[in-house]
Amino acid sequence: MSGSGPAAAALSRRLVFVTGKGGTGKTTAAAALALAARRMGRATVACEVSGHTQVPRLLGSETAIATMSIDPRLALREWLSRLIGGPGAALLTRPQTFGYFVAAAPGALELITLGKAWDLTRADPRRHREAFESVVLDGPSTGQAEGMLRAPSTYAALGRAGPVGVEAAQLRDAVADPSSSAVVVTTLLTELCVSETLEFAGRAEEIVGRRPDLVVVNQVLPDRFTALDLRRLRRAVDAARDPTLDAAEQVVQLACDRARSQARQFERLRAGVSSPIVELPFVAAGALGLRELTALSQLLWRPTYDWTGVRADRGRLRRFGPRPGRAGACGAACR
Ligand SMILES: Nc1ncnc2c1ncn2[C@@H]1O[C@H](COP(=O)(O)OP(=O)(O)O)[C@@H](O)[C@H]1O
Ligand SMILES: [Mg+2]
Repeated sequence: MSGSGPAAAALSRRLVFVTGKGGTGKTTAAAALALAARRMGRATVACEVSGHTQVPRLLGSETAIATMSIDPRLALREWLSRLIGGPGAALLTRPQTFGYFVAAAPGALELITLGKAWDLTRADPRRHREAFESVVLDGPSTGQAEGMLRAPSTYAALGRAGPVGVEAAQLRDAVADPSSSAVVVTTLLTELCVSETLEFAGRAEEIVGRRPDLVVVNQVLPDRFTALDLRRLRRAVDAARDPTLDAAEQVVQLACDRARSQARQFERLRAGVSSPIVELPFVAAGALGLRELTALSQLLWRPTYDWTGVRADRGRLRRFGPRPGRAGACGAACR
């Protein structure tokens, strides 16, 4: 099923690799992207790295999406078993030897983790598993992600014609192929996060040969008041001579300042990166759950034919977005 929306192109790829500075919403965006992919009718798995297990908790009752936590040691053992057989693999991945292996082969764990995710795009007849059409990988933060994305080229060059080299070369080509993989980067609209995102975007060109396929700007605050609104509010508060209203007006002013600061950072981001950008609003819901993630996923992807769905999406947009008739902190929802 085709769809519209800023993430539709990225979601048409088999591997969606999500990275970003820590705390910017990688896991949230990965879960929302997985929901969007599922709504596109794609057999979807949401994967986490380093043994993290947050996604199943976030997706809660959404059982149509498979989830997987990639434990690097288990993935390494599985991979080595294929190459050198079970006993050798067990020996190399014992707790006592695992550390030596990792130190001796830098980047190997990253290679294996990424390879494991890519494997899910292929059927596994031994386990009676069909191929997944969308593998959404909640990847590591940008620094480590660079290492992970570089690992296939490094090992392809080292291994040449050997089995490791051949597998690494296939993975390198899959990651570099924009019809197979998408690199998605999440960011907040702070100076530090935007700087890191711009740096990552520059290096992505060098590592995978293209800019990130999508930038997800997360936790965008609504810009609800115009300068005129604020002046009127100030006059009304002055006239009321009520200290409580005075404090409330300061809170409003602070919220406006934060939204304007975000808008400045958004312009910086837009000027520095040519990738498609999508905004996800700040959701004041305490802990995010399936309901909120579903609403966020609808901002990423919208079906083009299902008018009932589109109306529902617009309802959600109103619920989360700025007041009707006012631009959000960053103007249009996406570009
Ligand atoms: N759009 C949002 N609105 C409100 N809170 C959010 C939003 N996105 C993420 N969060 C919260 O921010 C925190 C960090 O998000 P998370 O997805 O875990 O980031 P990361 O995986 O990059 O570390 C979590 O507590 C999450 O619930
Ligand atoms: Mg996370």
